[in-house]
Amino acid sequence: MTDRYAVFGHPIAHSKSPAIHAAFARQTGQDLHYEAILAPLDGFSASIAAFMAAGGRGANVTVPFKEEAFRLARRLSARAERAGAVNTLSFGGGEIFGDNTDGAGLVADLVRNRQRDPAGARILLLGAGGAARGVIEPLLDRKPAGLVVANRTPGRARELAGLFGPGVAACGFGDLEGRFDLVVNATAASLAGELPPLPADLFAPGALAYDMMYGRDTPFLAFARTHGAATADGLGMLVEQAAEAFFVWRGVRPDTAPVIARLQADAC
Ligand code: ATR
Repeated sequence: MTDRYAVFGHPIAHSKSPAIHAAFARQTGQDLHYEAILAPLDGFSASIAAFMAAGGRGANVTVPFKEEAFRLARRLSARAERAGAVNTLSFGGGEIFGDNTDGAGLVADLVRNRQRDPAGARILLLGAGGAARGVIEPLLDRKPAGLVVANRTPGRARELAGLFGPGVAACGFGDLEGRFDLVVNATAASLAGELPPLPADLFAPGALAYDMMYGRDTPFLAFARTHGAATADGLGMLVEQAAEAFFVWRGVRPDTAPVIARLQADAC
């Protein structure tokens, strides 16, 4: 019988995950079906329970349910525990295992697809919500020269940095000093078409500006280009986090490059 997987979110209609996982399944010869399921805002755990009862083997979880998925999981990976959020669930023997592949997806995109290993880099992470939290540990694992979290509400940045010890500094946008080799936008500003109030001299020569959002040019990426930085959107991260989830479920690592290339071509 074909194994069933799904992504749960609200909204979910425009998710690219079904196409990505269908491509991975074709490429690796895995017999699985992957769909997008709209969970009611107050019905996430009931939707998961129904999917499990119908034979679902695993799920991806997206906005706004990642923290709820964290609470729902009976067992957690170390990286999910540090992220405080879950984007990948596996169902085995009636038990729910929670993992988080978002940070691994970002690092894989930087290292493999963009030849930008964060090792030794001065990193600035914009935002202090769930998206930012999910990528801190995987970035630190690469041994950057430093990591600063800057946020509109500085107290939230300090709180987040405090979870990761003295290797992570925190400030408000107005207190930003110095230049950075890698600037990652994990704020929700791009969703609203807004630009965090950033200083113009933020980017070191040769810097990369990375927006976790994908699918449209953002004010952050336009700002970065104006100030001489190279730019990347979050499409590669999306495909790489999916590949990592596919590996968690199936034990097989798909080749992401052709899938990224096809999605990029579709977007043009
Ligand atoms: P997510 O899970 O996507 O990270 P979140 O937890 O609501 O969502 O966090 C949103 C992040 O985007 C926060 O860092 C938020 O800043 P505040 O902590 O000050 O609220 C940031 N954010 C949202 N809109 C923003 C904007 N217009 N400019 C700058 N930062 C913004």
